[in-house]
Amino acid sequence: MKTIHEFEIKKMLRLASEAREKAYAPYSHFRVGACLKTETGAYYLGANIENAAFTPTNCAERTAMFKAIYDGERSFEAIAIISDGLNYTAPCGVCRQVLAEFCSPDMPVICADRDGNYVVHELRELIPMAFTSDDLKNN
Ligand code: THU
Repeated sequence: MKTIHEFEIKKMLRLASEAREKAYAPYSHFRVGACLKTETGAYYLGANIENAAFTPTNCAERTAMFKAIYDGERSFEAIAIISDGLNYTAPCGVCRQVLAEFCSPDMPVICADRDGNYVVHELRELIPMAFTSDDLKNN
């Protein structure tokens, strides 16, 4: 795994918890915030944005990721996620696939509970054998 210092993790979790304040979660009342750090040291923040039709809901991780991609960012150092939950919040399956598109398999994913306790996993642990552009080769 890439090295990430505790002070950096704490900073990212502080930013992610600020982002959580911006969640639009009137249906689940479960707010999530994410902080995505680029390799150039920029921080992209996101929160979950729900929808009355439920399916169009966008998770915090994808909000942060899509903001960054739109800005032209393509290299990422780490992502931190914090929610209102008692458990460590790990990215959902859809977000794992989006992370696999843009992030290296050894990128640290910091998953926190609402009190800021956290675990760190490599992306490859969360989405082993990910389907990526390499797998589209057919000749
Ligand atoms: N959610 C996220 O934003 N990120 C996660 O990692 C897990 C789930 C959101 C989606 C929905 O708005 C709410 O949490 C409940 O599932």
